[in-house]
Amino acid sequence: MAKEKSVYVCSNCSYQSSAYIGKCPQCGAWGSFEQKTFNAQPQAKHAHSAGQVLVQPITQITYNDTQRLNLKDTELNRVLGGGLVTGSVVLIGGEPGIGKSTLLLQIALMCSECKVLYVSAEESAQQIKLRQMRMNISSDNCLIMSTDSAEQIVQTACQEKPQLLIVDSVQTITTSQSDSFAGSITQVRACADILTEYAKTNNVPVILVGHITKDGMIAGPKILEHMVDTVLQFEGDKNYGYRILRSVKNRFGATNELGIYEMTSYGLQGVENPSKVLLSGREEHLSGVAICAATEGRRTLLTETQALVSPSYYSSPQRISNGFDIRRLNMLLAVLEKKAGVKVSNKDVFLNIAGGLKINDPAVDLAILACIISSHQDIAVSDKFCFAAEAGLSGEIRPVPYIDRRMKEAQAMGFEKIFLSKYNKDSVTEKYSIRPVFIAGINDLIEQLIK
Ligand code: TYD
Ligand code: MG
Repeated sequence: MAKEKSVYVCSNCSYQSSAYIGKCPQCGAWGSFEQKTFNAQPQAKHAHSAGQVLVQPITQITYNDTQRLNLKDTELNRVLGGGLVTGSVVLIGGEPGIGKSTLLLQIALMCSECKVLYVSAEESAQQIKLRQMRMNISSDNCLIMSTDSAEQIVQTACQEKPQLLIVDSVQTITTSQSDSFAGSITQVRACADILTEYAKTNNVPVILVGHITKDGMIAGPKILEHMVDTVLQFEGDKNYGYRILRSVKNRFGATNELGIYEMTSYGLQGVENPSKVLLSGREEHLSGVAICAATEGRRTLLTETQALVSPSYYSSPQRISNGFDIRRLNMLLAVLEKKAGVKVSNKDVFLNIAGGLKINDPAVDLAILACIISSHQDIAVSDKFCFAAEAGLSGEIRPVPYIDRRMKEAQAMGFEKIFLSKYNKDSVTEKYSIRPVFIAGINDLIEQLIK
């Protein structure tokens, strides 16, 4: 007789424990443990009865190029790595109101030669129609369904046989397989399971919308992100028109690829030349401003970093940052004070990346240091200068990759000097009219800015 064994498994992150625990030590979720029983007999003994397992030399495996659906949206196609792979499942996460439903309806309408089934559990067909009228695009091949039942979605999809299925959102649909409420960990996982299975068995791509929690994670089980092939993040400051679509995970392409959109009164428009838009409308000769030549995925962005350093009237000075990691800002301030003697510990520091962008490229460090020094000394950095290097803890300026791409973009935008790390000397392989200035440390930077 096979012996039954039981184990408690966290339904959020699959952490296992022999006893019930209230709070998961791995992911911190409360009340997420469920008892699971399994057969304690070693699996190997059954291996011969489980059918033949195919083993083959890697040289004999034939590769069929994955088919991709052209979504008629240059930005999204790029972020996905050249179109949507058939049979893949994509999860798009973003804060409420950022434009997820707008983006997906727009895609459903633009792919007019494909049959698309757009399912919404959040909005009625009337509301979706209203949005379509606003965007002023139409397609007879775009089918709309308003339901919150996962079974009904799959049943309809099997009848209609669409070439793309969109479900808005995975947190608001439910399945009868689980009796917990919509949006709960077990419900989200069960629904995602049903839709993933539909995608794989019918070879139809599925796009799921996912909500974001307060701390920016996709709400629901962590393993949701492991279940899908691609995770995209839609972000941006709602007060600005720009939206960024970033690939966080992609089984069929590069991660950190970036798509940039502008939210207009008639839907989302792709931004082809972001540097031009980001640098437009800036005032010249202002202190506290420096331009960074950053790269995100395959794109190069020239963007403005702004700092305001002012005397603090509090015992602990304020540090506020928009679009840049606040811990990294604190580190740069500490390096600036310790290694270059720029006293900032009694100053409030406000930092902003213009346009509501969030930049992850470490090359933004040098521009941030330059704009802080510029505001602290109240001297303007020339508007013909731009910066691209990382700062180290000892005040050294470190090299960054893709120097040619950065210089090319900066030159095209009319910059005359680009400040780089001295270790990037060999990375400049072509002749440019923009002049590279190689610097070794923070003191070097200050000297160059003040002279
Ligand atoms: P929405 O797509 O519903 O966001 P999400 O699904 O991520 O919650 O709406 C995004 C916002 O965009 C909403 O405040 C209205 C605005 N919007 C426009 O500015 N222009 C448009 O053409 C549309 C359709 C919406
Ligand atoms: Mg929505």
